[in-house]
Amino acid sequence: MQELNGKVAVITGGGSGIGRCMALAFADEGMDIAIGDIEQGAGEAVAEEVRAKGQRAIAVVCDVTDLDSVRGLAEAAKAELGAYHVVCNNAGVISGGPTAEMSPAEWDWVLDVDLQGVVNGVIAFLPGLVEQGEGHIVNTASIAGLVPMAAPGVINYTTAKYGVVAITETLHDELAPAGVGASALCPGVVNTRISQSARNRPESAGGPVAEEDMGPPLELPPGMEMPRIIGANVREPEEMAARVVEGVKNNDLYIVTHPETREAVEERFAAIMAAFDKLEATLASE
Ligand SMILES: NC(=O)c1ccc[n+]([C@@H]2O[C@H](COP(=O)([O-])OP(=O)(O)OC[C@H]3O[C@@H](n4cnc5c(N)ncnc54)[C@H](O)[C@@H]3O)[C@@H](O)[C@H]2O)c1
Repeated sequence: MQELNGKVAVITGGGSGIGRCMALAFADEGMDIAIGDIEQGAGEAVAEEVRAKGQRAIAVVCDVTDLDSVRGLAEAAKAELGAYHVVCNNAGVISGGPTAEMSPAEWDWVLDVDLQGVVNGVIAFLPGLVEQGEGHIVNTASIAGLVPMAAPGVINYTTAKYGVVAITETLHDELAPAGVGASALCPGVVNTRISQSARNRPESAGGPVAEEDMGPPLELPPGMEMPRIIGANVREPEEMAARVVEGVKNNDLYIVTHPETREAVEERFAAIMAAFDKLEATLASE
């Protein structure tokens, strides 16, 4: 979508971090903004920042794990802002702890928000975008959607983000004839409140944790080195939002943001190609 001025962007998890900066960056392009966030107050504060830029904005309390709630966000955008064109499925959480100690509830929480939340966004918004023959879906994945982080406590996150990349790759090809674009945002580490995700942890996964009771963001077991993609430069969410605006205008499938994560991706694909080389050698010797 090259012309954003006068259109409407919807952003889940728009009350903080990357989502907040996307809202402000799209507003700078002349878009009106609908924010959906589980945190009451956080979305409204960002809507106020958007209004201060002279654009219309609404904030809806929305839990992306609940399809009816996401459908409510779509209906509110249509009713109050007239339409939706750019849909950012961005809400996400992370949880910590070694894989062997991860509770079923912790698996469910992260998969529900980070993967099912994106699925719910597709179900709620895609029919409207296809019908109007114009639109773009931005799914916030992570570099952990392209390479495993190999750090404790992120296997559920990595699993979800691989799924988000798969959804986006499928949509990008399938929707091109319908005039709808799709992008996967794949950042390394960004300066946001993601490490305090447990502030929104549902009762089913143990309930919310107060900030003062949270441990350090990522504790590595003795002897384990910090994975390269996590040890990469910490970047600011404003920079992510600028990349997203560019990516939407160009219909870029992959929006990458941390050049130093490239090598890890190359290594993963080289390992897959090596498996094919091995197969070919085996077949030739049979
Ligand atoms: N910060 C990073 O290092 C980083 C790196 C790669 C990808 N990401 C991804 O970026 C996205 C945004 O995260 P962030 O870093 O800005 O974190 P953040 O915690 O600052 O913002 C996340 C927002 O999502 C909201 N949210 C949480 N659960 C929700 C739910 N069930 N329904 C609706 N909203 C919910 C929170 O209230 C918050 O406003 C996530 O998908 C995250 O996985 C972040």
